[in-house]
Amino acid sequence: MEEKEILIKLGHLLDEERIEHSIGVKECAAELAKIYNEDVSKAAIAGLLHDCAKGFDDHQLIQKSKEYNVKLDPISVLQKELIHGPLGAKIAKHLFNIKDKDILSAIEYHTYGRKDMTVLEKIIFLADLIEPGRDYPGVEKLRALAEKDLDRAVLKALDNNIIYIVTKGQLIHPNTIEARNYIIKELFFEKYE
Ligand SMILES: [Fe+2]
Ligand SMILES: [Fe+2]
Repeated sequence: MEEKEILIKLGHLLDEERIEHSIGVKECAAELAKIYNEDVSKAAIAGLLHDCAKGFDDHQLIQKSKEYNVKLDPISVLQKELIHGPLGAKIAKHLFNIKDKDILSAIEYHTYGRKDMTVLEKIIFLADLIEPGRDYPGVEKLRALAEKDLDRAVLKALDNNIIYIVTKGQLIHPNTIEARNYIIKELFFEKYE
């Protein structure tokens, strides 16, 4: 599917603001893909589609999850906005005809991450948080770090997310903890195998 066609379809699912964010993530992901030798067009498509299920309300998220056979974990059932990642991957597959497994997993895990993330997953996870439309304390620092060191930037972003979730009194998805532990082990602990 051409980018133009994707944008027209996305227009039926997302409001103007979310479309702008998606285009920002697309552009940012493409830039990061160039830096880290990842497939630029895969990064662009994953960036454009990462939030394709973000327009649904809680009721629709549950309904669509049944329809598309998304297995809901106990945290996502309670913290329903988390569902838009895995549901988005199914929608990208069935509505946008995306077959590429790398793109689909980058969409699936863009919200809470997972241990041993692929480069494309890391790129989409970060691009979502540093695209040009994002404005929060520390975003400039994270942007600079993302261009220099992908893993350290992902770690910083995971830390930010966890701190934010805690201040909001929300539930932390176990994948986020596993993603952080994994990167810390990779970065700072020697391997004895
Ligand atoms: Fe999202
Ligand atoms: Fe997003």
